[in-house]
Amino acid sequence: MALSVAVTGSTGLVGGALALALGSAGHRVVRVVRGATAPAGDSAVRWDPDFGTIEASRLDGVDAVVHLSGESIARGRWTEAKKQRIRSSRVRSTIFLADTLARLPRPPRALVAASATGYYGSRGDQLLREESVSGTGFLADVCREWEAATAPAAHRGVRVVHLRTGVVLTPAGGALRTLLWPFRLGLGGPVGPGTQWMSWISIDDLCGAILHALTTESLAGPVNAVAPAPVTNREFATTLGRVLGRPAFLRLPAFAVHLLLGEMADELLLASTRAVPARLEATGFAFGDPALEGALRRLLSR
Ligand SMILES: NC(=O)c1ccc[n+]([C@@H]2O[C@H](COP(=O)([O-])OP(=O)(O)OC[C@H]3O[C@@H](n4cnc5c(N)ncnc54)[C@H](OP(=O)(O)O)[C@@H]3O)[C@@H](O)[C@H]2O)c1
Repeated sequence: MALSVAVTGSTGLVGGALALALGSAGHRVVRVVRGATAPAGDSAVRWDPDFGTIEASRLDGVDAVVHLSGESIARGRWTEAKKQRIRSSRVRSTIFLADTLARLPRPPRALVAASATGYYGSRGDQLLREESVSGTGFLADVCREWEAATAPAAHRGVRVVHLRTGVVLTPAGGALRTLLWPFRLGLGGPVGPGTQWMSWISIDDLCGAILHALTTESLAGPVNAVAPAPVTNREFATTLGRVLGRPAFLRLPAFAVHLLLGEMADELLLASTRAVPARLEATGFAFGDPALEGALRRLLSR
């Protein structure tokens, strides 16, 4: 059945790919855009989550909402001001959106809201399923508040799914695009000890997982959006080097990456998060890119 799906953050890395995937699957996409990014004459719904304004009536009767917006976590040093923007652009926008949806005469049936594997913090070799407790650190705090912020919609009876997303792999942007040039120059390698786990997902599987969450009535609450085979940082570097046909032995020591990126390095690059997609698998989601090497070869056409 074709759905009408409102999407926030549709100009972003995930949102752009998702809008295309939803369109190809025959669904109608209603972009929810901030004033600054709204193309003139577009049929998009305008909102300003900072000022608490939204064309709410135009969301009435949509079947579902996918909420992806938020200040970039990976771009820019984590100053106190940046951390404040990361937190408030997620928590305040989610409370505002969830409250808006809860007040609609005909609220959507489902709200699929982004969260991140940062929820679990740095946990060594532990396998992290959705029922695992949250960890410590800035991102874990943000993710807990971000997930809790959907409460107004859940109280209204909207089925809410929190997508605890791992590192999204696409050559179009994000982590993989950043790593491509040093690896192509033969300057790639593990970061820090290299034993830290990294949970990843291909962009196509993430879009598929969102579609799965939209249409699987039994799914609610946290869902790990990660491939079934997380890798260590060293394994990631070795695999990317092999796929590109380049050496990948140059280790970036932890102190250097910390010096370069500060707290962000500790939480994004040196943290160990070994999440597995227990709920996606239990509800029959079939991964197109279950293993890293195949995913990288397909994404990079190698
Ligand atoms: N990419 C990853 O590896 C990854 C991993 C885990 C979790 N996630 C989460 O998944 C979501 C989508 O990720 P993404 O990679 O597509 O992010 P992205 O490329 O940075 O896009 C996020 C979108 O959010 C909106 N936005 C940007 N700054 C904002 C601000 N200060 N306040 C409110 N909205 C703002 C923008 O859309 P508009 O201008 O159209 O509003 C932007 O296109 C994010 O919440 C991210 O934290 C991503």
